Amino acid sequence: MIKTLIVFGTRPEAIKMAPLIKELQSDSHFEVRICVTAQHRQMLDQVLDIFKINPDYDLNIMKQNQSLYSLTADVIIKFEEVLKKEKPDIVLVHGDTTTTFASALSSFYFKTKVGHVEAGLRTYNKFSPFPEEMNRKLTAVLCDIHFAPTRRAKLNLLNEGVEEKDIFVTGNTVIDTLKYTVKQNYKFREPILNEIDYTKRIITLTAHRRENFGKPLENIFEAVLCLADSFDDILFVYPVHLNPNVKDVAERVLKGHPRIILTGPIDVDDMHNLMARSYLVLTDSGGLQEEAPSLGKPVVVLRDTTERPEAVLANTVKVAGTDKERIIEIVEKLLTDKEEYSKMAHAVNPYGDGFASRRIKDALLYYFGYKKETPEEFKGSDMYVQKLYRRVLKAD
Ligand code: UD1
Ligand code: UDP
Repeated sequence: MIKTLIVFGTRPEAIKMAPLIKELQSDSHFEVRICVTAQHRQMLDQVLDIFKINPDYDLNIMKQNQSLYSLTADVIIKFEEVLKKEKPDIVLVHGDTTTTFASALSSFYFKTKVGHVEAGLRTYNKFSPFPEEMNRKLTAVLCDIHFAPTRRAKLNLLNEGVEEKDIFVTGNTVIDTLKYTVKQNYKFREPILNEIDYTKRIITLTAHRRENFGKPLENIFEAVLCLADSFDDILFVYPVHLNPNVKDVAERVLKGHPRIILTGPIDVDDMHNLMARSYLVLTDSGGLQEEAPSLGKPVVVLRDTTERPEAVLANTVKVAGTDKERIIEIVEKLLTDKEEYSKMAHAVNPYGDGFASRRIKDALLYYFGYKKETPEEFKGSDMYVQKLYRRVLKAD
C-alpha cells in the first residue's frame, strides 16, 4: 500500500483536493491520511462538510488577520508532528498557498517524497500574485512528482529544469469537482440566492488577492458601483471573502446598493450553480478563472497578470487589471455589445475533462511501480498552447 498523506488548508485547496481524496480512498493500493492546517477555518469547514471529508489531523492554525510570517512558521512546526507520526510514503500538496509551500518544506526536512497537484502555473512576476508566485516556485524545487494541469504548465516546469519523467499532465481537478456540484433545477443553500430575480443579468463578483488590498480594491468597488448605477437590468452578487482587509472595505463601499447583493462565503455547490446562472464573472480568483470557461461564462480578471493564459487565448477570459475606468470600459462593452459578448460566452475546457484525479492516481501507481504504462496525458489544452507558440513565433 502507498501511504499517502494529503495536506491542505484553504478553501480552494480543499475544493480541488476533494475529488482526488475520493479517487484515492476508493483504491485499495492507497492508505490515505488527511491533514488540514486550517489556514482557513470557516471557509475550509464549509468545503469539508459538503464533501464529507473527515481529516485525521487538524492543525487549527488560523488567527484573525494572520501574518505570512507566523502562518508559515506554524505550518512548518506543526506539520512535523504529523510527519513523525505517519511516516508517509508520499505527501501530496496543492497549488500555491502558504500551507502548500510550508508543508512541502516540512516534508523535505523529513526527507519524505512530495507530489505537487496543480504544478507549473507561473506569471513570472514575483509580486503578482503575492505571495503565490513564489510559493509555487519554491514548492516546485522541493517536490519529486509534479502534476501539471496543462501542457503549458508542464513547459514552465521543463524550462525550470524539472525532469520530464517527473511531470504528469493531468488536467485540473477542479473540473472533476464541477461534476459533483453543477445541477439543473438546483436549489441554493443560501436562501437569498433562491430569491434573486434571475431575469436580470447576474454578475458574480469575488476579490481577495493580497496585492489588491488598499487602492486597487477601492478602484474595483468604485467601478462596480458605477456599473450598478448605470445599468438597471444587472445584479451583482458578491460572496465576500472573510479576510478583514476585504470584508471591511466591501461592506463600507458596497453595502446598501439595490443592485449589489453581498453575502458571506457561500458553499461551493452554491457558487458553481450561481456562476452557471450568471451573465458574467468578475474576479481576481484563480479557481474562478478555471471554472467559468467550463460553464461558458466570460470572465473579467481583476488583476494585472494571470498564470492561466489558456482561457485568455481561448478568448473567454479578459485581463482587466484594477484600473477603475478600464474595468468599466470592458464590462460596459460586454453588457451592450451582443457580438462581443457572444464571442466570449462559449464553453471551453482547456483546464480539464473531469478525469484529472484518475490520472493523478494512475501516475502515482506508475511512480510506485504498481503500473507499467505511463498514464496518458491530458491534451485538452493543446490547441491553446499551439496558439501561444504561433504568437511567440510571430513576435520573434
Ligand atoms: C489564502 C491564500 C491565497 C488563496 C486564498 C483563497 C496564502 C498566503 N494565501 O488567502 O493564496 O488564494 O487563501 O481564499 O496562502 N479568514 C477567516 N475565516 C476563514 C478564512 C479567512 O476569518 O475561513 C480571515 C482571517 O482573519 C485570516 C484572514 O482571513 O487571518 C486571511 O487568511 P489567509 O489564509 O492568510 O489569506 P487569504 O487572503 O484567505
Ligand atoms: N468559492 C466558494 N464560495 C465562495 C467563493 C468562492 O465556494 O463564496 C469557490 C470557487 O468556486 C472556487 C474557489 O472557491 O472553487 C476559489 O477560491 P478563492 O477565490 O478563495 O481562491 P483562489 O482560487 O483565488 O486561490
